[in-house]
Amino acid sequence: MAVGEPDFPAPKLVQSAAVEKIRSGDVRYTPAAGTPSLRKAVAEHLSATRGTPYASEEITICHSAKHALSGAISALVDEGDEVLVPLPAWASYFDLVRMCGGTPVLVPPERRDGVRPDLSALSRALSPRTKALMINSPNNPSGYVFTREDLEAWRGSRSRRTCGSSATRSTARWCTRAATRSRPPRSRKTSRRAQRSSTAPRRPSP
Ligand SMILES: Cc1ncc(COP(=O)(O)O)c(C=O)c1O
Repeated sequence: MAVGEPDFPAPKLVQSAAVEKIRSGDVRYTPAAGTPSLRKAVAEHLSATRGTPYASEEITICHSAKHALSGAISALVDEGDEVLVPLPAWASYFDLVRMCGGTPVLVPPERRDGVRPDLSALSRALSPRTKALMINSPNNPSGYVFTREDLEAWRGSRSRRTCGSSATRSTARWCTRAATRSRPPRSRKTSRRAQRSSTAPRRPSP
């Protein structure tokens, strides 16, 4: 796979809807989580297509993948926390974790085909500081799609210690839950210092 930029122009329907909206003058700020009608439409679509019911309140509209992930990671990760990142991974994931004072723990794939996540290596990479597992499925760049067996194996063995069980549902739900979780504010000074000293990626011991 490659960068997410489409190699085709926006469909005519989308172009006209955008122009119509701009002309209508209804272009003010929306609620931060998105307009109720859009959140409802997304919840209905996910409920109809993913085999799991979603409520509008569980949906937060974001303007990009990195926006959604940075919100979720900011809510979940504190100084000294670790986030498991199966490789290969999108380049900015490491810095998103570091920005919050966390350490990305890079876990190479199984050797068998070079793309399948190595579930036993992921288990070995767990530490008392593990806060999250990043699941990108279908993976970019490898294209690997996490199977039900992958997710159940991971959840069965590890969910009580990490947020892996949340990750078996959609990123949208994971982000919503993470973003609504409260925690004390982080000190910016400490955060920058921590970025310099302790956020180099860690590779788990074999
Ligand atoms: C796996 C993955 N993560 C993150 C991004 C960044 O997405 P965005 O530009 O929506 O922030 C991309 C873009 O292609 C991607 O493929």
